[in-house]
Amino acid sequence: MKEEILLVANWKMYGTKKEGIKLISAIKAGLKNLSTEGLTIVLCPPFTFLEKAKELIEGTRLKLGAQNCHFLPCGAYTGEISPLMLVDYCQYVIIGHSERRRYFFETDQLVSEKIKAALEAGLRPIVCVGEKQKKHKKEKEEEVLNQVKAAVAYLDNKKMAQLIFAYEPVWAIGTGNEADPSYANRMSQLIKESLPVNVPVLYGGSVEPDNVGGFFKQEMIDGVLIGGASLQASYFLKIIQKARRYVSQP
Ligand code: PGA
Repeated sequence: MKEEILLVANWKMYGTKKEGIKLISAIKAGLKNLSTEGLTIVLCPPFTFLEKAKELIEGTRLKLGAQNCHFLPCGAYTGEISPLMLVDYCQYVIIGHSERRRYFFETDQLVSEKIKAALEAGLRPIVCVGEKQKKHKKEKEEEVLNQVKAAVAYLDNKKMAQLIFAYEPVWAIGTGNEADPSYANRMSQLIKESLPVNVPVLYGGSVEPDNVGGFFKQEMIDGVLIGGASLQASYFLKIIQKARRYVSQP
C-alpha cells in the first residue's frame, strides 16, 4: 500500500479545444463516482488548452501541467513558451520527454537548464529519463543514471527534492510493449539511490488499465505517466480506479 500515487496524463500534440473540453468533461463526470483520496492527478494538455483546462478543472482535485518549457523566463525566442508564463496556468511541467530529446534534439545539458528555470519560476518538473534501446544491463543503467545526474547538476538538495522523475524506457513508449514491472522497479530504485534526497519516480511507457496494477504493486514506483491511454476518458478513469486500490485508506 502506498500513501500517495501520482498519475500524470501526457496528451502530447493531441486535443483541439473541442476535443479537450469533451475529454475533461468526461473525466470530471467519471470522477463524481470515484474517490481520488491519496491520488495526485495531473493533466498535461497542449499549451493552447491550458487556460480552458484551468477553468474546467476548477473545484476538482485535478491538477495541470505543461509538456515543455524554455530555459529562460523571457527573451527573443520566437515560438517558445517560458516557465514564467506557465505559472499562471499550471503547477507542473514535463521536461526532457524522449520525444523532445529525439525530435527536437534536446540534450542533457538543455534539459538541466530547463529544470533549473522551471524550479525558479515555481513549477514542479516531471523529468523524463530512460534508455533508448533494450541493451546490456550495465550500459542502460549508465545511460539512465547519466541523464539523472545531468538533470540535477544545478540543484541543491532542497530544489532537488521538488523533482518528480519518470522512468520511461524509450522502447516502451507508444509501442504497446510495456516494461516488465519488476525491471521498472529496479530502475526506479537505482534512480532513487543515485540521489541524496528522496524523490518520487513514476513509470511510463504503454501503460494501460490492464497492465497498470503490475506497476502500482512495485515498492519503488510512485505512480505512472500515461500517454495514449490518457486520451480516452474510460481508460484513464479505469487507471484511476485501479490506483485507488493501492493507496492506503485515510
Ligand atoms: P504511452 O506514452 O503511454 O503512449 O506509451 C507515454 C509517454 O510518452 O509518456
